[in-house]
Amino acid sequence: MPGGSHAITARRGKSLEKAFEYPAGCGQSWRMKGSLFIVGWLAATAVFAADSSSIYHPGWIDFNKDGKKNVYEDPSQPADKRARDLLKRMTVDEKIGQLWQVDLPRALEPQAAARLRNGEVGSYLGSDATLETPVVRNQLQHVAVEQSRLGIPVILGHDVIHGFRTVFPIPLGQACAWEPGLFERTGAMAAREAAAVGIDWTFAPMVDLARDPRWGRIAESFGEDPWLGALDGAASVRGFQGTNVQAAGRVVACVKHYVGYGAAEGGRDYNTTEISEYTLRNFYLPQFKAAVDAGVLTVMSSFNCLSGVPASGNRHTLTDILRGEWKFGGFVVSDYQAVAELVDHGVAANDAEAARLALTAGVDMEMVSRTYHDTLKQQIEQGLIPQGVLDKAVRRVLTVKFQKGLFDRPYADESVYPTAFLRPDALALAREAAANSCVLLKDEDRVLPLAAGGKRIVLLGPLAEAAQELVGPWHSRAHTNDLISLADAMREQLGARVKLAVARGCAVFEPGVIKVPRDITSFSPLRGSPSGANEIPEAVALAKTADVVVLALGEPLDWSGEDGSRSDLGLPGLQEQLFDAVAATGKPVVVVLFNGRPLAITQLQQKAAAILDAWFPGTQGANGVADVLFGRVEPSGRLTATFPRSVGQVPFYYDHFNTGRPGFGEYKGNYVDIPTVPLYPFGYGLAYTTFEFGGVQLATNALSLHGTLTARAEIKNTGTRAGTAVAELYLRALATTAGSRPVRELKGFQKVRLQPGEARRVSFELPAHQLGYYDAAGHWLVEPGRYQVWISQDSAAGDPAAFALRQ
Ligand code: NOJ
Repeated sequence: MPGGSHAITARRGKSLEKAFEYPAGCGQSWRMKGSLFIVGWLAATAVFAADSSSIYHPGWIDFNKDGKKNVYEDPSQPADKRARDLLKRMTVDEKIGQLWQVDLPRALEPQAAARLRNGEVGSYLGSDATLETPVVRNQLQHVAVEQSRLGIPVILGHDVIHGFRTVFPIPLGQACAWEPGLFERTGAMAAREAAAVGIDWTFAPMVDLARDPRWGRIAESFGEDPWLGALDGAASVRGFQGTNVQAAGRVVACVKHYVGYGAAEGGRDYNTTEISEYTLRNFYLPQFKAAVDAGVLTVMSSFNCLSGVPASGNRHTLTDILRGEWKFGGFVVSDYQAVAELVDHGVAANDAEAARLALTAGVDMEMVSRTYHDTLKQQIEQGLIPQGVLDKAVRRVLTVKFQKGLFDRPYADESVYPTAFLRPDALALAREAAANSCVLLKDEDRVLPLAAGGKRIVLLGPLAEAAQELVGPWHSRAHTNDLISLADAMREQLGARVKLAVARGCAVFEPGVIKVPRDITSFSPLRGSPSGANEIPEAVALAKTADVVVLALGEPLDWSGEDGSRSDLGLPGLQEQLFDAVAATGKPVVVVLFNGRPLAITQLQQKAAAILDAWFPGTQGANGVADVLFGRVEPSGRLTATFPRSVGQVPFYYDHFNTGRPGFGEYKGNYVDIPTVPLYPFGYGLAYTTFEFGGVQLATNALSLHGTLTARAEIKNTGTRAGTAVAELYLRALATTAGSRPVRELKGFQKVRLQPGEARRVSFELPAHQLGYYDAAGHWLVEPGRYQVWISQDSAAGDPAAFALRQ
């Protein structure tokens, strides 16, 4: 039972939707039987049946069709009061129905309509082209509202992860901009497009801490730092939900996957995680807490087994922490079939036990599997589950539906979506985000930026013209025709007079080489066109004619994301061979990487003249990358995930604990075959200029527990171009009582744009209460003792200043 199999099918299908054509007549109100009712401020664009006319009144809808304005039908009443009133009117069957999310049908099929009439379904999960208009969604909603006893609207969810029709860079890329506000802006833009087709709810942001680049979902993460991840996650929630989630163009957010999902053993998706309570509290939970504090309305429980107890049946995390400690008031939805999977985890003997375990642990809504639907009623009748547990879950779901305004505006306005996609402001933001996500990993002899005239540029590599790979693993409703390749983006910047020579050199991966052994006897076939090594000579010949070669390398779009784990972190297929052959020409090679994870690319680091990591940059990605290559935009990204030298080093992250034998030399626990240090550390990234960071100056070296630390450093642009420095503030607590603290942890950053020769002093204010950490019971401890603080260019650079925290 794969998680999100519908999504996987879409992804593995590889070819994105061709230009979609709207069905004839769409964009006009959808009507049946000629009945149209003016409903005042209600955005009900259509009605389902003539005899339902009486339910629509100016300012309210008579959902239960009793001719009276009941509390739950009254928009002036608070959401929780309306939910309680509605709950009182519901049968057990209707209650259980609210806790079941099913896949969105492609049309108003008889079975779907029957389920809605019976009140059996509370939510839909959409993934395919049905979502590109609100038509089916509205049709279903009309049945739910007009033909079910209590008229409870359904809530439609979809994975709007990094864009809907306009695709922004993958979250790992956007995180490298070190600009949480970017997530707020791209989230809002994605919500605007999604809401236009009637999507009420997105399954994002994913805030899972990702320390292992083998794990494909690192692409959807913010990287390895909990502090920065918390800022990015909260900003995403604000972007999706806005300050008023009922407003047009907003969607309910869902923070996921709660919790520990990113620590999958071996980097294998869905795999077991073993996380101590201390590490959970300090590294895995803070991003979720930040999303809850930012007002996220839903949380998704994860697939993984967490330290022996599957996360979707884990009362400790779902109830004690989430609701008890954090006072989360929204609802929890399971991941795809994660409730039924409790049987596979071996903690439930059958569906009934799985349902009981999940519901009592705190999972309110079940995604797709049907254990709640099939077993809860009987278990309640038998007294195995208290009625109060069911009621609580239902009330939470209903409250969010009221908060979202579904009872006031159940239908999506069908006049909006035809002009909602790919608007100029969305495309401009996508281009800006793509450029700002780029991380310059190497730039020897200032080969970058490229000059648009003069030198002959040759573009090589499997991703030079493969526009559709650039959207990455969760491309939502991207269309191939919306995309632009790096070759075309470069041609545009080079102008009509320059003819850009392009050759592929090899395929992005080699068909015929096993991609994913599903089991020991059958293997999934690979897609794409085989090249073998026979295109390499052509590429080399072209390279020889160049002054500078741009080589577009990377991963296929679905080698990261869900179920996109890898055991190797090199470039797939013959790409390294291609790189070696091109580099052997002696021409300067600028590698542009399109990837969903940190890669082990020591060979590139040794021989390339420049390396620009563009991640999967999205719909306008190629334009954004070309902006950076030609120097229209300065590269300002910094890594939020460590690049290892070899897969053998992972999990590998900067904020690790010290060992008892730190440093280099014998009996220090270093590798005998490779350096222990990363290829590129967390926080690393170059600019087209250079910066010099002065030493850290502290206003005091003895801080009181109620004081604020002031740390300053001077930063100078020592190069010849303007550029943006990122001043990164790291802290280390040297002796703590409840557990070790990391060798460094990020506590602040500032981006400073400096002209050539300009120097500026950055100043950080760090209140003492932010110097603390969690003990295993979740208490925030701020302890007297010795601390170190850095203001540096990355997590491995600079020298610390020291201070003492006093009582
Ligand atoms: C499974 C994935 O783990 C989750 O992130 C996603 O939201 C659901 N499928 C729904 O597509």
